[in-house]
Amino acid sequence: MARLLLLNGPNLNLLGTREPALYGPTSLQTIEQRAMEMARAAGHELIGRLHAAPADGVQFIIFNPGAFTHTSIALRDALLAIGLPFIEIHVSNVDAREPFRRHSYFSDVAAGVISGFGTFGYELAVVAALRGLGQPGKPSHITT
Ligand code: DQA
Repeated sequence: MARLLLLNGPNLNLLGTREPALYGPTSLQTIEQRAMEMARAAGHELIGRLHAAPADGVQFIIFNPGAFTHTSIALRDALLAIGLPFIEIHVSNVDAREPFRRHSYFSDVAAGVISGFGTFGYELAVVAALRGLGQPGKPSHITT
């Protein structure tokens, strides 16, 4: 059994009510529930906290840094310090929005990036993470 960590940056707790035309009607609670069910169905566990992730036995992180994507060297450094592979995810297509959203402090060190598929992206991330567990950092290289 592997452990996945699902992490969300600021304002993602407002999903469902926040700019629904952009982010959709699904709440973060529903997203977390679906992701947990998917992980459980595959015989794995999904948790929602960062503290001591490696000591907790976490092997993969699914991370939506929110606005910190575009600003936070500190969070980038924290992820590099933890040293676990992670998938960067965005609900909206950040490359199709304002120019300041086109730069990410995470994409170059992420295993991969999922952006623009709405909240379904979290489910895609769980699938990608579960495939990548045997090969940290390279989920797309795993075949079924
Ligand atoms: C976001 C995109 C970010 O640019 C924005 O600041 C967010 C949400 C997304 O999921 O689309 O808070 O990460």
